Amino acid sequence: MSEYKKGGGMIRGIPHDTIESNLPILAVFVAILVAVGGIVEIVPAFYLEDAEPKVEGVRPLTPLELEGFAIFRREGCFLCHAQMIRPFRDEKERYGHFSLAAESQFDHNYAWGSKRTGPDLARVGGKYTDDWHIQHLRYPRSVVPESVMPNFFFLEEHPLDTSRTKRRMEVLASMNVPYSADDIANYEADIKAQAGVDDGEGEDALRARYERKTWEIDGVVTTWSDSFEPTPLDVRAFDGDASDVTEMDALIAYLQQLGTHIHFEEGVDYYHDKFGHAYRE
Ligand code: HEC
Repeated sequence: MSEYKKGGGMIRGIPHDTIESNLPILAVFVAILVAVGGIVEIVPAFYLEDAEPKVEGVRPLTPLELEGFAIFRREGCFLCHAQMIRPFRDEKERYGHFSLAAESQFDHNYAWGSKRTGPDLARVGGKYTDDWHIQHLRYPRSVVPESVMPNFFFLEEHPLDTSRTKRRMEVLASMNVPYSADDIANYEADIKAQAGVDDGEGEDALRARYERKTWEIDGVVTTWSDSFEPTPLDVRAFDGDASDVTEMDALIAYLQQLGTHIHFEEGVDYYHDKFGHAYRE
């Protein structure tokens, strides 16, 4: 004879049948369970002072780089490339210092990725020449014969669509990315200046806007120390052609700045060596 009786399923004193066959009660228990899980994960983050160590050098993307990031998302580069160097010895030796939270604070949405078919790109800036990127993006197998990366030869044939740049910057500014009204108003000139199609006319103004040391985020003004020199912007015809701004210009401008904002010191572990001591004084 079965011990099971409908409606009477008690396991260690808990009436499972009643709970599992009654949707509102089940929903309440599920909500409690999820809340406990959430609290356990979220609450410690409020008490960890080091959770987002403050570093100098991280600036918002210039309008050209921002459009490059949009192409990066559009073409699904993140489906094969992560931008999140994990604190494992092999990754540190291959890519450099592990990613700090501050480095992606202005990225919306985040490009951390999780699929690592290709190498991590978080610090690819400056690793290769523009010519290498052009050739590799056109036909990856002409540079790396065993590559499985798709061909993106069409990027240099497409003029960059800047009809949404202003809106993008406005939306980001509303999400605490420190674009000033001046940055937003001059997006078009800055795109031309960075891609080198204006004979150097707007370069100084572009540099003044994005190599600055004072940033206002949500009403709070932060100024980097006097001794800190912001990383100079890359200003040139990234696709090798200064006659127009193409999607190739934008994407390479984006790639070449990745991981170059913070001046990591050789052999310093920014989490423990640097912030660990400085922050716990
Ligand atoms: C199907 C997966 C896939 C996609 C999609 C993809 N890649 Fe790759 N990528 C790879 C692989 C595999 C490699 C390593 C072999 C090589 O260098 O081609 C690579 C290498 C690279 C490298 C060289 C990295 C280094 O440190 O050597 C860059 C830069 C790069 N990809 C950029 C991009 C960009 C930008 C896009 C989107 C336009 C993209 N990839 C899309 C698979 C992919």
